[in-house]
Amino acid sequence: MANFWLALLVFSTMLRAIVVQPQEPTVNITILHSATAEGAVCLDGSPPAYHLDMGHGSGLRSWIITIEGGGWCDKISNCYNRSNGRLGSSTKMQLQQPPTYTFGGILHNDPKTNPDFYNWNRVLVRYCDGSSFTGDVEDVDPDTKLYYRGARIFKAIMDDLSQKGMRNAENAILSGTSAGGLSTILNCDKFRSFLPENARVKCVANAGFFINAKTISGTSYIQEMYNRVVTLHGSTKNLPPSCTSAMEPSLCFFPQNVVPYVHTPMFIINSAYDSWQINSTLVPAYLDPQRAWDHCKAQISNCTLSQRIIIQAFGVEFLKTFMGVTPCYTRGYFITSCHTHGRIMWTNYWFNTISLTILDKTIAEAVGDWYFDRVGFHQHLDPYPFAKDC
Ligand SMILES: *[C@@H]1O[C@H](CO)[C@@H](O)[C@H](O)[C@H]1NC(C)=O
Ligand SMILES: *[C@@H]1O[C@H](CO)[C@@H](O)[C@H](O)[C@H]1NC(C)=O
Ligand SMILES: *[C@@H]1O[C@H](CO)[C@@H](O)[C@H](O)[C@H]1NC(C)=O
Ligand SMILES: *[C@@H]1O[C@H](CO)[C@@H](O)[C@H](O)[C@H]1NC(C)=O
Repeated sequence: MANFWLALLVFSTMLRAIVVQPQEPTVNITILHSATAEGAVCLDGSPPAYHLDMGHGSGLRSWIITIEGGGWCDKISNCYNRSNGRLGSSTKMQLQQPPTYTFGGILHNDPKTNPDFYNWNRVLVRYCDGSSFTGDVEDVDPDTKLYYRGARIFKAIMDDLSQKGMRNAENAILSGTSAGGLSTILNCDKFRSFLPENARVKCVANAGFFINAKTISGTSYIQEMYNRVVTLHGSTKNLPPSCTSAMEPSLCFFPQNVVPYVHTPMFIINSAYDSWQINSTLVPAYLDPQRAWDHCKAQISNCTLSQRIIIQAFGVEFLKTFMGVTPCYTRGYFITSCHTHGRIMWTNYWFNTISLTILDKTIAEAVGDWYFDRVGFHQHLDPYPFAKDC
C-alpha cells in the first residue's frame, strides 16, 4: 500500500512538473558577420551575435528583444580578461556545444508560461562589449587589441532585425536583466527610433535599477566603477544628451538620474534588497577580507542582527531613491522585497504557479496588463517591510 501511495506521489509530482513547466526551447546562434564592416564588434574584435526564434500567428508583427546581462568591465585588464570568454567574444560563444541559448520566461514559446509573448518574434542579444551597449571608441587599443564598441553593436543588431521584419512591427519590447536591464534603460529611446511611429513600443528593465549608494565604509565604489566604465568605453556620447548636459556624464549611467529623461514607456522590475547590489555596491569583496558576509550574502536568514540592520537601511535607501525619480504616468513597476537578482528569462520567476506575486499578479501578468493597457493600475510594491529569502 505504501508503495502505491509513493508511486502515486511520484507520478503526480511528475505530472505537475510536466504541466507546470513546458520544456524551454533552445535557439541557434546567429553571428552577424556583416557588422564587422561598421566596426561593430565584441571586445576581441569578433562579430556580435544574437539568437532569434521567429514569431507566428498573431505574433508575426510583434518583436521582443532581450539583452543578456553579465556585469561590466571598467579597466583594460578586466576587459582583456573578458575578451577571452563568451562575454567578450563570439568566437568563445561558439565553443559552447551546441552554441544555443535556452529561451525561458519572457522568451518562452509556450502560452502556459508566457501567455502574452509566446508567439512573438523573440530575440536574445548576446552581451560582448562590457559597457551595457554604450561604448564607442574609434581607436583599437594598440597593446591589447581591444575594441570598445557596444553602442555600434546595438545599432548593427537593430538594423539587422529591422531588415528581418522589425521595421514593420506593430508591437515591440526591449527588455533585459541586470547589466541587460541597465542596457534596456540606457538604450530604450534609441530602440524606439528603429520602430514605426504607430507601433506600440515599450521597455521592461529587470534587476537593472542600480542605485548610487555608498559602501558599508562610506566609499563611492559603484559610482567610481561606473565612472571608469564610461571613461574607458567612451560612453558619454551615447548616453541621453538631456541627461549628460544636466550633470556629470558618468552619473547618467545610473537609472535614478537617466530614467526621468527617457520618453518611451518603461516598466521597472527590481528588488529593494537586490542581492547583486548588496554583494557589490554595499559590501564589495575587498571590504570583507575575512568573508564575514558570505553566509549572509547567500541567505538572509543567516545574517547577524547588525548585518540585517545594514541591509534594511539599504532597502530603505533603494525605495527612497526609486520613489524620488520624477513620477511618470506611463511607468509601471514591480518592486519586491526578495533577496534575489531575478531573471525574467527564468520561467519560475516570470510566470508559474510558484512565482512570486504582488496583489495577486505574477510579474508576467503585471507586465502584460501594463503593456497592453488592460488595466489602469501598474505600480506593484511588495508591502513586506524587510528583506526575505524567496
Ligand atoms: C540549429 O542548428 C542545428 C545544427 O547546425 C541544425 O541541425 C538545426 O536545424 C538548426 N535549427 C534551426 C531551427 O535552424
Ligand atoms: C579573469 O576571469 C576569471 C574567470 O573568468 C576570473 O576568475 C579572474 O579573477 C579574472 N581576472 C581578472 C584580473 O579579472
Ligand atoms: C552574492 O554573494 C553570495 C555569497 O558569495 C552568493 O552566493 C550569491 O550568488 C551572490 N549573488 C549575486 C547575485 O551576485
Ligand atoms: C545558513 O545557516 C545554516 C545553519 O547554520 C547552514 O547550515 C547553511 O549552510 C547556511 N547557508 C548558507 C547559504 O550559508
